[in-house]
Amino acid sequence: MEGRVVWVSGASSGLGHAAAKALKKSGWRVIAGARSFTGDEGEADFGLPLPLDVRDEASVDAFCTSACSLAGPPDALVNAAAILTLGPAEEIPAEEMMAVMDTVLLGAVRLTRAALPKMREKGGGKIVMFSSLNGLMPTPYQGAYVAAKHALEGFSQCLMLETRGQGIQVMLVEPGDHAGGSKRCRGRIASVSPLYRESLERVSRTIARDEARGQDPDRFGRRLARVMGRDRLPARLKVATLKERTALMLHIILPGRLNQWILADHYKV
Ligand SMILES: NC(=O)c1ccc[n+]([C@@H]2O[C@H](COP(=O)([O-])OP(=O)(O)OC[C@H]3O[C@@H](n4cnc5c(N)ncnc54)[C@H](OP(=O)(O)O)[C@@H]3O)[C@@H](O)[C@H]2O)c1
Repeated sequence: MEGRVVWVSGASSGLGHAAAKALKKSGWRVIAGARSFTGDEGEADFGLPLPLDVRDEASVDAFCTSACSLAGPPDALVNAAAILTLGPAEEIPAEEMMAVMDTVLLGAVRLTRAALPKMREKGGGKIVMFSSLNGLMPTPYQGAYVAAKHALEGFSQCLMLETRGQGIQVMLVEPGDHAGGSKRCRGRIASVSPLYRESLERVSRTIARDEARGQDPDRFGRRLARVMGRDRLPARLKVATLKERTALMLHIILPGRLNQWILADHYKV
């Protein structure tokens, strides 16, 4: 693994940060991107921080240019940057939906498009897309995030098929709840009508509780680094508890209405 270069977006906190730290520890040369990095920090235990806003094409280009001049073309890319905005599906303002889509879906698309030609110069590479169990099943009041992660699942599966013969491997990572995500990237819409207010409060508490009781991000990072060290990546990597996996399996196999009832009961909607 020594000398292999990986770019990690969303590396300033949460699972992206844990992934960057574990990858660096296992010998990757990590170029870490996030909006809160200035580029003056210098090498850290999670790699070399560079400023990156995945919503801004010019910032992605600048990140790509600096990363390549500092470390050469990437062998791998980890798309972990994301934001989440809570609100009723009926009421999330279009601009807030756009911001989540722009970060989660288009952010990953922009960085992937920047990395792919560079990877081909090296004969191939690995692209890791941070989806979520929410890329496969819903959580109430996360309409923007759930829609964006479902879209990312679709995009990634097309990319997998189209780049197969190019030495490019694409892997979807689908984590369940993990502790330690930043408050900075978890917002809520400013105004909620009385129709949804109480229910949103209740669900927000359940979401916060589930996340606080979530798995250890460092353990997640070590698992991801181990898998990324393999020659062949699986198409999907689920990092979830038995309860979460069971919920997902039921979501897939149960009739829609029964499944809705189970989710509604968990979230009390
Ligand atoms: N934690 C969980 O339970 C969980 C579960 C399933 C999936 N995931 C996925 O795992 C990833 C990390 O989530 P998290 O909750 O662990 O971490 P988090 O603390 O919410 O971190 C989000 C990261 O994204 C970065 N970011 C946000 N907007 C950005 C932008 N426009 N450009 C560049 N970077 C941006 C943030 O850095 P700056 O603010 O510094 O830019 C931060 O480093 C996400 O893709 C998330 O969907 C997490």
